[in-house]
Amino acid sequence: MNSDFIQEELKAISPEIQCHYFEKIDSTNSYAYFLGQNNHPNWSIVIAEEQEKGKGRLDRKWESKSGKGLWFSILLRKSIEPRKIQAVSLIFGELIRESIQTHLREKYGIQNLSINTKWPNDIYVNQKKMCGILLQGAITNNLYNFIVGGIGINVNHQSSDFSEEVKNIATSLYLETGKIINREELLIHIIQHIYSRWPQHEDNLKEILDEWKNHALFIGKKIQINHYDKIIEGVFKDINEYGHLILEQNHGSVQILTGDLMNGDSK
Ligand code: BTN
Repeated sequence: MNSDFIQEELKAISPEIQCHYFEKIDSTNSYAYFLGQNNHPNWSIVIAEEQEKGKGRLDRKWESKSGKGLWFSILLRKSIEPRKIQAVSLIFGELIRESIQTHLREKYGIQNLSINTKWPNDIYVNQKKMCGILLQGAITNNLYNFIVGGIGINVNHQSSDFSEEVKNIATSLYLETGKIINREELLIHIIQHIYSRWPQHEDNLKEILDEWKNHALFIGKKIQINHYDKIIEGVFKDINEYGHLILEQNHGSVQILTGDLMNGDSK
């Protein structure tokens, strides 16, 4: 990618944004976490063309091929209560979903692509994963004193760019639209969108969580959740203000803090 263009455009969004660009890095999240620990400012952003050890949730690896996707991490220096961290992750998801949808419509005339959020941290297109989000942070005195939002987006991948392991569950914007997307422009659009809509108040938080719900897969449907290697079943009723999933079961409702939502049953 053209790092000079990216630097200039990010500066134009706000001088507050500090960009760290790498052709190759182990993981943008690890580097942003290091910046967090070393007092780098709010809105430091780490962007890489390629990650050698891209990290996914639950210690999984994240495939981050050079020249194909967007791999970046945003350092936010805000005090956040640990119970609100899942909501923050949903906020990232909804703002990214909205930005990609708008950009594809405005720049490429793509109207009918349905892009969905999927609890807890994913963005799906046509039932396959196009984007994953990994939130990390450091807690002192019972509060996160910084968080890192790591974002991986499969943009111009062809099927052969994915490993056998993920080929059937992953997709890219190119595979779903047939269009090669300019990655720099998409990146700038997403960062601009997150920067301008990041909720400053609790009210905005609720508004964005509602938008997340409007675009979420499987709400109101029968689902299975892999929760610490135990499968729990029920109906995906809602999310609460902390972004936890409310699952309705025969004996009542339970709130699920984390897990893998496995599949919906549209009956
Ligand atoms: C997941 O779905 O499991 C989360 C994937 C998050 C991947 C992104 S790519 C940029 C950032 N750096 C990392 O090492 N991981 C995140």
